[in-house]
Amino acid sequence: MSRTVLLLPGDGIGPEIVAQAERILRAVNEKFDLNLTFESALVGGAALEEMNTPLPDATLDRATKADAILLGAVGGPKWDGLPMAERPEKGLLGLRSKLELFANLRPAVLYPQLASASSLKPEVVSGLDIMIVRELTGGIYFGQPRGVRQLESGERQGFNTYTYTESEVRRIGRVAFEAAQQRNKKLCSVDKANVLEVTVMWREIMNDLQREYPDVELSHMYVDNAAMQLVRAPKQFDVIVTGNMFGDILSDEAAMLTGSIGMLPSASLNSEKQGMYEPCHGSAPDIAGQGMANPLATIISAAMMLRYSLNQEEAAAAIEAAVSTVLDQGLRTADIMSEDGTRVSTSEMGDAVLAAL
Ligand code: NAI
Ligand code: MG
Repeated sequence: MSRTVLLLPGDGIGPEIVAQAERILRAVNEKFDLNLTFESALVGGAALEEMNTPLPDATLDRATKADAILLGAVGGPKWDGLPMAERPEKGLLGLRSKLELFANLRPAVLYPQLASASSLKPEVVSGLDIMIVRELTGGIYFGQPRGVRQLESGERQGFNTYTYTESEVRRIGRVAFEAAQQRNKKLCSVDKANVLEVTVMWREIMNDLQREYPDVELSHMYVDNAAMQLVRAPKQFDVIVTGNMFGDILSDEAAMLTGSIGMLPSASLNSEKQGMYEPCHGSAPDIAGQGMANPLATIISAAMMLRYSLNQEEAAAAIEAAVSTVLDQGLRTADIMSEDGTRVSTSEMGDAVLAAL
């Protein structure tokens, strides 16, 4: 059975890094006989230019039918003046909500070869391997009502609403428990149950779910403490599950423990395990078109795609091993350059991963 991978290069460095990931995917497709078919479509600023909308119907249609999506990045200074609803980022948000990609998986793994890139001491981060599971389509980012209103006193009041339904909490909880089962069987649920009612319910539901996953050890932590623990002793965590806003902040914090935004992949999944995979970084307009971008976050995202949406663990592991090999060889794009490294361009890094495969 042939399966379709939709490539959405997007803007800035997006096309450069997706091109490298595509080469790697085509290579494993041959090598492991995966029967993948590749398509590509426009999203973000690239779609705005050609079709006047950041998420054309044709792109959404292909995305809906695809088995998995690999996205580069969207946005750039060119579109900064546009109203929120017309910006390239709307393309990405639209895909997330239309495809109901509620589960955002962001691993923070420190590659031993890059240990010196972390801002924390080596003993605090060496061997770091944690997975943050962030709820992506609910919580305060989406709650209604929202806005800025005029009070009778004459001053303005801004307001947002924090809501989660029980089913929203349950489905993200299940993804997190299952991720923990496949890893070191420790799950920490992060909330603010001492202040926010939504998260009191969140905590009750996680406790309830735990009975279905008796092999997973569940703990709870307030978000302020979790932020502190992530820089104090991050290796105490295996899987962290949390809501949209807390997850946004904590996953960026965890990402930086590894020191290099150019290395960090992500997955966003729906109930059918259909997923959109993308690097955590943006379109990096400051280095776009210069052949400087690190393609590894996108390449590792492609490995996650093979693992989570296409059930091809062997091919996924082969890509990850190839990435590790090129790092062992000392090959470095500018963002991860160290004194004894060999500086390579975006496509040279792709060449090296391909050779290692
Ligand atoms: P950014 O992640 O694009 O760049 C931050 C810094 O990291 C820059 O100095 C950039 O050169 C560097 N960088 C990022 N990725 C890199 C890579 N692969 N290799 C080497 N260096 C890399 O974040 P920024 O500058 O805040 O945003 C730029 C644009 O990207 C904005 O329009 C923003 O809205 C958009 N953006 C899009 C995202 C997405 O598509 N998922 C996520 C974040 C931002
Ligand atoms: Mg963020």
